[in-house]
Amino acid sequence: MLPIDLSGRLAVVTGASGELGRVIARTLALAGADLALTYLNNAATAEALASELAAAGRRARAFRADVTSAGSIAALRDAVTEWHSAPDILVNNAVIQYPWKSVLEQPLADYESQFRSCVLHNVHMAQAFVPAMIPRRWGRVVAINTECAMQNFVTQSAYVAGKRGMDGVLRVLAKEVGEHAITVNQVAPGWTVSAKDRVAGTEVNEGYSRNVPLRRRGTDQEIANAVAFLASDLASYITGAYLPVCGGNVMPAI
Ligand SMILES: NC(=O)c1ccc[n+]([C@@H]2O[C@H](COP(=O)([O-])OP(=O)(O)OC[C@H]3O[C@@H](n4cnc5c(N)ncnc54)[C@H](OP(=O)(O)O)[C@@H]3O)[C@@H](O)[C@H]2O)c1
Repeated sequence: MLPIDLSGRLAVVTGASGELGRVIARTLALAGADLALTYLNNAATAEALASELAAAGRRARAFRADVTSAGSIAALRDAVTEWHSAPDILVNNAVIQYPWKSVLEQPLADYESQFRSCVLHNVHMAQAFVPAMIPRRWGRVVAINTECAMQNFVTQSAYVAGKRGMDGVLRVLAKEVGEHAITVNQVAPGWTVSAKDRVAGTEVNEGYSRNVPLRRRGTDQEIANAVAFLASDLASYITGAYLPVCGGNVMPAI
């Protein structure tokens, strides 16, 4: 057996109160990690998840943090480190949701919010948490990007700008911290089935799936599996990667 073993590791998952964040956190916990779960508004969900993971034998705690604020992420680092230790694994997953409009109609505030929640989120997390990984010579940064960053579909300009911007930060970071045995990778989901679809019965979308080589939407668990792999020792020689988990819907060129 070849296990994904994260026992003894502490992971921070931003946006752990969200659709994908919850499943990513559960999956890292199943692999043995302890979890610092961040939320912005949905404290009840994050705290319920922390209780669930603690009942399963992990150390887990919910923390309120605004990923757009350097001060909030610095405070998160101090609180997490005091509670447990300096984290080994960062999962930069949170995103600000907003209505998608054409470039001609999209309010400038949405470009700014995507810059803050995609680009600066990743900068704040790196500046707060990577320094403590350096002397330990072990660290994992796994950021959640999207297939949309390669598609450039209409109405997605602010989202695409934010996600393509974070891609640049993360590729540079991978080069800068590689000598310390810290890896920096991105998982890029397609349009993913999550709990809200299961509740609403909207898992199937033939219009979308028709163009996907695997002919279906992926699941939150399939995204979380890729995150767990990249967070593990099995992925020790992978860095700077943008890994689509989208059934082949986008394929980066070589
Ligand atoms: N779902 C998909 O099909 C899909 C596809 C491709 C890529 N993605 C990517 O996957 C990631 C997760 O998406 P999702 O669909 O799971 O999103 P979601 O359900 O809307 O969750 C968003 C999360 O981000 C948190 N958040 C929002 N603004 C924040 C801020 N300023 N500071 C801190 N946390 C903040 C929310 O916290 P509260 O709820 O507590 O306020 C929530 O936990 C995103 O990066 C997204 O771009 C998703």
